[in-house]
Amino acid sequence: MALYSEKVMDHFRNPRNVGVLEDANGVGEVGNAKCGDIMKIYLKVEDGVIADVKFETFGCGSAIASSSMATELIKGKPLSDALTLTNQAVTEALDGLPAHKIHCSVLAEEAIKRAVLDYYKREGIEYDKDLFKDVECDHDAD
Ligand code: FES
Repeated sequence: MALYSEKVMDHFRNPRNVGVLEDANGVGEVGNAKCGDIMKIYLKVEDGVIADVKFETFGCGSAIASSSMATELIKGKPLSDALTLTNQAVTEALDGLPAHKIHCSVLAEEAIKRAVLDYYKREGIEYDKDLFKDVECDHDAD
């Protein structure tokens, strides 16, 4: 069996939603300390809906495929869907990732959560801190 599914290869070779959103109102960035890969997600939220989303990923093919799939899964959806998106859902949508590449999909989940958190902070929207305890930076803590 091939190490990577056709979907992973497709999203790696033809990633969707690559780039920068100049008018983003929520931006989230995460890095993995071990592999050094970095993922940045840009959200444009309008009326509680993700009107647009883009990503920049400096990382492995699985991280690029995960970012691409994750952005496709939340584009046009209510912001609440971005918050409940799990790395398992991203991995399933890609028809699986090798076990040692699961952390690449975790980056996508965390970068999106950070982007939502950034949006809430910019807009002064109240949020449940427990939802973000895994992704809140130390310097964000109050
Ligand atoms: Fe680190 Fe893929 S090897 S994100």
